[in-house]
Amino acid sequence: GKGEHRHFMLKEIFEQPEVVSNALNTMLNPADRTITLPRLPFDLAAVKRVRIIACGTSFYAGSVAKYWIEKLARLPVEVDIASEFRYRCPPMEADGLAIFISQSGETADTLAALRYCREHGQHTLSLVNVPESTIARESEAALLTMAGPEIGVASTKAFTTQLTVLACLAIGMGRATGALSAEAEADICRSLSEIPARIAEVLRRDDDIRVIAQGIAEARDVLYLGRGTGYPIALEGALKLKEISYIHAEAYAAGELKHGPIALIDDSVPVIVICPTDELYEKTASNVQEVVARGGRVVFFSDREGIDRLSAKVFSSMALPSVDPVVAPILYAIPVQLLAYHVAVAKGTDVDQPRNLAKSVTVE
Ligand code: F6R
Repeated sequence: GKGEHRHFMLKEIFEQPEVVSNALNTMLNPADRTITLPRLPFDLAAVKRVRIIACGTSFYAGSVAKYWIEKLARLPVEVDIASEFRYRCPPMEADGLAIFISQSGETADTLAALRYCREHGQHTLSLVNVPESTIARESEAALLTMAGPEIGVASTKAFTTQLTVLACLAIGMGRATGALSAEAEADICRSLSEIPARIAEVLRRDDDIRVIAQGIAEARDVLYLGRGTGYPIALEGALKLKEISYIHAEAYAAGELKHGPIALIDDSVPVIVICPTDELYEKTASNVQEVVARGGRVVFFSDREGIDRLSAKVFSSMALPSVDPVVAPILYAIPVQLLAYHVAVAKGTDVDQPRNLAKSVTVE
C-alpha cells in the first residue's frame, strides 16, 4: 500500500535512500572503498566501445552513464533511443558491449534492440528492476537495480537505482581499462556511500519544493537547463513534469540556449536550472544571467557555494548538499521529481495513473 503517503509516486520518491543503498550494497565494499562487479561472461578489459540503449527515463539514465563511462573508463560510448536504434540497423564491429536499461525488462523496442545486438556479435548486459523479465533472460548478463516494485507510472526510484548501478559499472569499467586510479576509485566510492544520506537530506526539504511548485503550476511552458550530467537530469525533469502535470516542458543543454530556445524566454516561462558546483558551474551561471536579463523566472538548484557565487537575481533557489560532481546527478534527480509531483498535485491530476500512459510499453 501507499502507507502514510498520498500517492505511490511520493512513497517511491521517499524510498530512495533505502533502495539506492540496496543497489550500492550489491557492488560497493565500504571498508576498502572499491567496487566489485559480478562475474561477467565476457572480458570487460577487452571492450573497445560501448552502446547504451533504452527508452524514456531509462534512456536518460543511460545518457548520464555515457558521461561517466567516457570519463572514468575512457571508452567511447554511444547512447540510443531503442526505437531509433532498431530501425536504423546500424553497422557494428564485433565484440562491442551493448548495455540495455529497462525497469520492467519488457519494453518492446529495447528487447528488439537487444536481439539485434546479439545477432550482430555484441556482448549484451542488461540493467533491469524485474529479475525474471524477458530482457534479463535474453541478455548474457543482468545487473539488478534493487528498487523493489515500482507502482507509480512515472519512474522515480527505478531511475536513481539505475544511476547507482551505472556509476558502479563505470567504476568497474574504469578499473578494467586501467583509466581509473585506485585513489580516484576510493574517492568516488566514498561519495557514493554517502549518497543515500544526502538524498534523505533533500527529502527533508520537501516543503520548500512544494512552495516552489506553487509558482509553476500556472505556467503553460517550462524550460529545464543543465550541462554535463546535469543535462540528462534536466531532460528527466522535463519528462516528469509533462507526464504527470501535463504542462509543456522542454530541456536544453545550457550551452544550446543562445542557439534558439532563448527566444522563448519571457516572464511567464519558469526556467529550472540544474547547476551543482563543478567545473562547468561558471558556464551555466552565465546562461542564468542571460535568462534573468530577459525577464525569465529562474528556479536555481545548486549547493550553498553555487548560490552564494551567483550574481544574477533568480526567482527562487534551493541549496542541495555539496557532493562530489561525479555523483551529483543522482542527488539532483530528487528535486526535479518532487517538483513535478507537487505541481501535479497542485493541478489535481491523477499522479499515479497519468492519462494515456502505461507502466510497461510492451507494444511499440
Ligand atoms: C517515465 C517512464 C517511461 C519509462 C520507459 C521505459 O517516467 O516511466 O519513460 O522509463 O517507458 O520503461 P522501462 O524502463 O521499463 O523499459
